[in-house]
Amino acid sequence: MKIAVTAASGQLGGAIVNALVTLISKENVVALARTPEKAKHLGVEVRRGDYENRAELQASLQSVDTLLIVSGMDAPDKRIDQHRNVISAAKEAGVKKIVYTSVQGAEQGTAFSPVIQSNRQTEQDVRESGLEWVIGRNGIYIEPDIEYVESYKKLGVLVNFAGNGKCGYTTRDELAYAYAKMLTEDKHNGQTYNLNGESLSQYQLGDFINTAFDAQLE
Ligand SMILES: NC(=O)c1ccc[n+]([C@@H]2O[C@H](COP(=O)([O-])OP(=O)(O)OC[C@H]3O[C@@H](n4cnc5c(N)ncnc54)[C@H](OP(=O)(O)O)[C@@H]3O)[C@@H](O)[C@H]2O)c1
Repeated sequence: MKIAVTAASGQLGGAIVNALVTLISKENVVALARTPEKAKHLGVEVRRGDYENRAELQASLQSVDTLLIVSGMDAPDKRIDQHRNVISAAKEAGVKKIVYTSVQGAEQGTAFSPVIQSNRQTEQDVRESGLEWVIGRNGIYIEPDIEYVESYKKLGVLVNFAGNGKCGYTTRDELAYAYAKMLTEDKHNGQTYNLNGESLSQYQLGDFINTAFDAQLE
């Protein structure tokens, strides 16, 4: 059974490929990438996969049984059609199951809502594709906050601080493990999962960062 992962040149897609090869033979994992040379280091077969190019996707999805679609990075309205290209190409190529990386969040009333709404539309498109499906709704990645610690230290404060606002952060590697299971186990078919860690206030996050990085951020 061959499993393909889109956006494999990116951080989440690459992490999912790495998690998959711990569960199944690497000969059965295909990395799809808009920029194939950026996915070579993964050590699996790399095929072209630009969300804008449905014919290319259809050719690259030949012999693939299960497909993981990583949500795109374009403007929200543009993403919907890009994801539709991938779903249509998968159906035409004979893919049997789609797993989609969606996101958690409010559909109305925040600056991020247009992104949430576009993800919800793709969820609906995946559910109505006629293929087997599983949807994960990701929490916010913790890594960007960690990557900014050195610049926070220079400023002495956590930037974009939301005080008592809570967030169930995840790492991309935790998400990748969950997606590898959804891709390889039938029992998840037809499920929509919230994928997040325990909720932390940003005061708690600041305390953890101060302890782990020997900092005194406020
Ligand atoms: N939960 C969160 O906190 C959070 C935060 C930010 C984003 N996200 C979402 O999660 C997704 C994955 O995040 P990430 O950290 O892996 O992002 P990343 O490392 O920036 O990777 C983005 C990937 O998307 C690919 N891509 C962009 N446009 C494409 C297209 N038209 N066709 C095919 N591939 C395309 C890029 O390919 P190239 O290598 O060719 O550029 C790259 O592989 C993002 O795309 C976004 O939808 C979630």
